[in-house]
Amino acid sequence: MLQLTKFYEKCYEEYRLKSSNFCPVELFQFISEKRKALKKKHIGHFVDSLLWTEKTELIDIPDFDENLKREIVLGLHMKNTVFGTYKKMIELVAPMIEEINMKENRPARLLEIGSGSGKLSFALYNELSRSHLQFELTGSDIVQKYLDEANNESRRKNSPITFVKIDAFQLDSLPENSFDVVFCLHSLHHFSPQQLSRIMAGSFKISSKAFLGVDGYRGLFNLLFMILSGGLKSLLSLNYAFLHDSFISGRKLYSAKQLELISRLSCPFSLTTARNLRPGLTMIKIEHK
Ligand SMILES: C[S@@+](CC[C@H](N)C(=O)[O-])C[C@H]1O[C@@H](n2cnc3c(N)ncnc32)[C@H](O)[C@@H]1O
Repeated sequence: MLQLTKFYEKCYEEYRLKSSNFCPVELFQFISEKRKALKKKHIGHFVDSLLWTEKTELIDIPDFDENLKREIVLGLHMKNTVFGTYKKMIELVAPMIEEINMKENRPARLLEIGSGSGKLSFALYNELSRSHLQFELTGSDIVQKYLDEANNESRRKNSPITFVKIDAFQLDSLPENSFDVVFCLHSLHHFSPQQLSRIMAGSFKISSKAFLGVDGYRGLFNLLFMILSGGLKSLLSLNYAFLHDSFISGRKLYSAKQLELISRLSCPFSLTTARNLRPGLTMIKIEHK
């Protein structure tokens, strides 16, 4: 219901006809004005505009309690494990590694951005290092505490993964083609359309093959589920932060179509695929043609 795909596509076409800018903020404003002007509102528009928020999650507030931030990120890890999200990410990344190995006869260079606890990178390494695939993996985040903990874990596990500080908004300061695949999980909705556009363009520039982003699915059932799981965690820990961030996250998630439109504006010469994945996920893949 919240996907409103045709409406977004129509707005995109009108916007591109009237504007020579490639500006996601302008596009989103244009869409919101078009929506206000609709005479007969579809229930989907009503619910979607009611839910949409630009509020900030507590984990994105720089001086918010670091231990609590860490607990929220570790809560995500539990959810990712239970719902098979890491497995899904591995299924999406493995064929790209294979292609690089075959075509270029060398290990694929992978970069995770917004790696948080680093658990996705560890899961990917554990699973794929037992296969014939060859790769070098770097994790990255903006929060030093997460990086220190992930690097400690990497040393304990004797794993070759290193975690380095990279600001996802500054990717374009890295050399072109420094990596083959740049990927991120559950982070896209933390960024505004303009910031996301910067991340997509930067990732596209520094990757030789693709950028892959996976996040939660924008929909009412997923939002309800997030409220329930966040609420339960808040009840058990007597801390409202979990409910707060689950509720805000669920409202900020992008639909596949929104991600696709941001990519079309930010990486016009790419091949973009955006679609929903089970369970409760949405992905965007921006590939070099
Ligand atoms: C919701 S967490 C996701 C963590 C992890 N990917 C997962 O699935 O558990 C979002 C992550 O994005 C990171 N982040 C936020 N802004 C960032 C930026 N500008 N550059 C890099 N990472 C950033 C946060 O520190 C946090 O670790």
